[in-house]
Amino acid sequence: MQAWLLEKLGSLENMHLGEVAEPMPGPREVVMELAFAALNPADRYLAQGQYPARPELPHILGRDGVGRIVRVGTEVKNWEPGDQALILRGSVGVERAGTFARMAAVPADSLAKIPHGWSLEQAAGASLVYLTAYQALTQWDDFKNPGRVLITGASGGVGVAGVQLAKALGHTVVVLSRRVEKQEKLLAIGADIALSPQDTQWRKRLSEALGQRRVDLAIDNIGGELFPEIIETLAMFGRISVVGRLAGPVPEFNTASLFFRRNKIGGVAVASYTSEESRVVWTHVTKLLKERKARPLVDSVHPFEQLPAAFARLAAGPMGKVLLRVAGTS
Ligand SMILES: NC(=O)c1ccc[n+]([C@@H]2O[C@H](COP(=O)([O-])OP(=O)(O)OC[C@H]3O[C@@H](n4cnc5c(N)ncnc54)[C@H](OP(=O)(O)O)[C@@H]3O)[C@@H](O)[C@H]2O)c1
Repeated sequence: MQAWLLEKLGSLENMHLGEVAEPMPGPREVVMELAFAALNPADRYLAQGQYPARPELPHILGRDGVGRIVRVGTEVKNWEPGDQALILRGSVGVERAGTFARMAAVPADSLAKIPHGWSLEQAAGASLVYLTAYQALTQWDDFKNPGRVLITGASGGVGVAGVQLAKALGHTVVVLSRRVEKQEKLLAIGADIALSPQDTQWRKRLSEALGQRRVDLAIDNIGGELFPEIIETLAMFGRISVVGRLAGPVPEFNTASLFFRRNKIGGVAVASYTSEESRVVWTHVTKLLKERKARPLVDSVHPFEQLPAAFARLAAGPMGKVLLRVAGTS
């Protein structure tokens, strides 16, 4: 079968389209013929060697995907050939071969049904980013009541998921995006206030828009020079859930800025969810989305042969998820 093979760590450019043997399922696995796979920045980090995982090479990247089951292992009870499924967060594309291939072997406990009424495209890239956004919103025991939530990099996969889930949980949602047209789309899916992090006055405008109140929880996908500015927006006992660092290292900042308002910083690691926790959270996530009549947003769908162009689109800053169409292309 055809697969995108990462020959060595260092760069996404070390990937090429090649031929490998079709996977066979282990006793508790299924083999899926993929319809769509989704890209994540973590694929790039893994290719660059910036990720803890050191999979056997050549490695097939790709954590998310949907498809049709074509083979089932001897101990698999709940799935049959012909069933359609999506892949919940797990080892696929990290420690084991991923979804940038015509087929993938997947542990049966990493599968979920396509939520009712969702298209395959909507389902293809949802699980990782919604589970991440859910953890970012719910990891604080002292933050249970509706509050003011700020989301950076809000137009990306985690950001859009965060906006929809934060609204479903009753929060007031402030989003940061560098592009006006993306700010408008984020307002259309429920954000209450949209600002640009490149506007030097964004914190003043935020304070005005919130009636001089401050942020209770920030979900930060960006890091870099924005991080100290986010701290300055926090309320008394305000928290930051640190998800990503797309703008690189955070410059020196005065830790005294944390003292006076008793602020807290906490990392998010979606990989820390067990299979069972992922399933419980996913059930809650899909219920929240159904109640709000919200669906995952797809930025763009790229042909299987054009994975490098899909990664370029992801790096440029998408509006929702960037997908690879695996089935139906030659
Ligand atoms: N901790 C975890 O468990 C976990 C799980 C999933 C993802 N992540 C990480 O979370 C981050 C976000 O993931 P994602 O899937 O949402 O990414 P994404 O889909 O690529 O979107 C990120 C958004 O951030 C903005 N952005 C990108 N580069 C930027 C830069 N250099 N400076 C400022 N803004 C920039 C863009 O928005 P605008 O163009 O609108 O400004 C872009 O749409 C990544 O670092 C990813 O690795 C972590």
